[in-house]
Amino acid sequence: MTKQVTARAHTNIALIKYWGKENVALNIPTTSSLSMTLDQFYTTTTVEFTDKATDELILNSVSTDSTRISKFLDCFREKHGDFPKVLVTSENHVPTAAGLASSASSFSALTGAMFGLLDLPQDTQEMSRMARKGSGSASRSIFGNFAVWNKGNDDESSFAESFYDDDIHLTMIVAEISSAQKKMSSTKGMQLAQTAPTYPEWVRKSADQLEQMKAAIVAKDIEKIGLIAQDNALGMHEQNRRSLEPFDYFTTQTIEVVEFAKQCYREGLLAFVTIDAGPNVKIITDKATEQKLLQKFRSNFPDLTFEVAHAGECLRYV
Ligand code: DP6
Repeated sequence: MTKQVTARAHTNIALIKYWGKENVALNIPTTSSLSMTLDQFYTTTTVEFTDKATDELILNSVSTDSTRISKFLDCFREKHGDFPKVLVTSENHVPTAAGLASSASSFSALTGAMFGLLDLPQDTQEMSRMARKGSGSASRSIFGNFAVWNKGNDDESSFAESFYDDDIHLTMIVAEISSAQKKMSSTKGMQLAQTAPTYPEWVRKSADQLEQMKAAIVAKDIEKIGLIAQDNALGMHEQNRRSLEPFDYFTTQTIEVVEFAKQCYREGLLAFVTIDAGPNVKIITDKATEQKLLQKFRSNFPDLTFEVAHAGECLRYV
């Protein structure tokens, strides 16, 4: 029987963002970043060798363009010697409507599966390095709970590692906001953001915020975590608006949700936001507050869908 290996990895949401590359080909970032892996959203990927002429991708039962994953598999071929073409069968349990990046869980799961198929040592540092080449944020999805991707300055030194492997009762409520706009990819978006005159300042500030964030996680201080994450994310989006070709992922509803979260915080509830390369808002709170906050958001935004997520587990074989 043909050898098949299946791995599962979860998405992660950065509390300190990766938004810029020092080396585009290798995905070496301009900043170190820190994320929480989520329990709710994940990708399950099976790999096996095939005698077909090209690598193949079947995503959610549909044959899909395999150019990006084939380029990624070539990184394995370069490093570990040539091998036959690969059939990749992937199930994405990341609601596309939620606009959550699935590249993190996808490339992390594919990395794990390929390590199994090629019988490579289960070295999470090396897995993270490889996943990074597929998509930067995937370097962090190898790990559960909280991971830090140390930016490094070359292929060898740029990888993520577990920072705090425990659930600190942080909740993320994902507010799904749809957008009519054509989506700007993260890769392109960050390239533009780097042209903002204020970008170097955001990078400098991010290094300080990372240290403050680490301390806040260890102290399980959700308020501090939320305040720092919110400032870091809003700063990231400000670079997009100040770039040489200004653009914005926010829609009117994004702004309304952000403002409502700020109002809830003024009223004494733990409520903060973080936003990635799309219009959706992830509301940061704690487990004790989540139901109350969810109710407030649901009654204020009856048209929106909300999903509740907590800390999730690391990459594993299934
Ligand atoms: C806003 O990892 O999708 O989610 O490396 O070009 O594939 P590429 O980018 P990607 O960017 C993620 C950006 C972000 C912030 C973050 O996850 O840190």
